[in-house]
Amino acid sequence: MPRIIAVTGVTGFIGRMLVRSLRSAGWSVRLLVRPDSIARLSSPPTSETILGSLEDPIALEQLVNGVYAVIHCAGAVRGRTFEDFSQVNVEGVKRLVRAALNQSNTPRFLSLSSLAAREPQLSHYASSKQQGEQALAEAGGGMEWVALRPPAVYGPGDREMLPLFQWMGRGIAPILGEPLARLSLLYVEDLTTAILSWLDSGGCKSGVYEITDTQDNGYSWEEVTERVSVLLSRRLIRVPLNEPLLRALAGLNLVGARVLGYAPMLTPGKVREIRHADWVGDNGELTAALGWTPTYSLEDGLRATMGWGRPDSTDSRG
Ligand SMILES: NC(=O)c1ccc[n+]([C@@H]2O[C@H](COP(=O)([O-])OP(=O)(O)OC[C@H]3O[C@@H](n4cnc5c(N)ncnc54)[C@H](OP(=O)(O)O)[C@@H]3O)[C@@H](O)[C@H]2O)c1
Repeated sequence: MPRIIAVTGVTGFIGRMLVRSLRSAGWSVRLLVRPDSIARLSSPPTSETILGSLEDPIALEQLVNGVYAVIHCAGAVRGRTFEDFSQVNVEGVKRLVRAALNQSNTPRFLSLSSLAAREPQLSHYASSKQQGEQALAEAGGGMEWVALRPPAVYGPGDREMLPLFQWMGRGIAPILGEPLARLSLLYVEDLTTAILSWLDSGGCKSGVYEITDTQDNGYSWEEVTERVSVLLSRRLIRVPLNEPLLRALAGLNLVGARVLGYAPMLTPGKVREIRHADWVGDNGELTAALGWTPTYSLEDGLRATMGWGRPDSTDSRG
């Protein structure tokens, strides 16, 4: 009988790509889907589609029953208050871990955290991701667990980085950070291949692992702009967005979110994240544990995401 992988967050950007990669690699998947989100599944529901949420312990028991591994991709990435994030990113992790530990054969457990967890003081999101990791470490002593810390992930279906790249495609490069600030990026397929490597590894040391693309020391905003400019063979107009302006936009957005009742992405906390000077991750421990290495440069990822440029003859990805 094929071993089953339980996956959450399957209607989201990363979860959808992950399910596709798992199926292509021959794994059977069992999916947790909120009933209102079923139309966002990338393929029709099957008998292995569990309707429910992270707030529903019975659905979580059904999800993890007899599975080989749990891959937890569900997360709250937008919100106003700490509770908006913690209900999913902390309490959700705790409930899912509890369900996993109730199994007679405890499944392996991989949770998508975030590089933001390294700086929990910056935002409610960052703090909730760090507390989610803590919850996993405390509750997960009886099982093999891994929390992956990706930086900003981009690729087909992403909604967060896409507008930035779309502006660049129109010739305008918003510069969101200081000249010396550096950030790592990750093309979504490198993230899914890392998760497949973890599954294939059959076991690795429990803990928190950073993950980034092929650029070891990350990028400055100027370097991102320059690479896009070369890829598009055109000059881009740099538009620096300074902190007071971003803070003002975030303040307006918070008011809008309160009045209109939507979950905001740009908040004062998100501005502190964006303006943070060091978002460079390190693949060292993950590569040592799994033998996985990233294959996508920023140029490769942007070609695949935006259809920019042409693959050059030196592209050696297999
Ligand atoms: N994208 C990035 O750049 C990035 C970077 C670092 C870390 N991460 C982490 O990676 C994970 C996935 O990110 P993403 O970009 O794919 O996010 P996304 O597109 O917003 O997807 C979030 C997923 O979580 C599900 N979800 C939210 N609350 C839930 C609940 N209470 N019960 C069940 N499912 C729930 C959503 O389901 P519905 O469709 O029903 O809302 C959706 O499937 C998150 O944990 C995020 O923190 C993302």
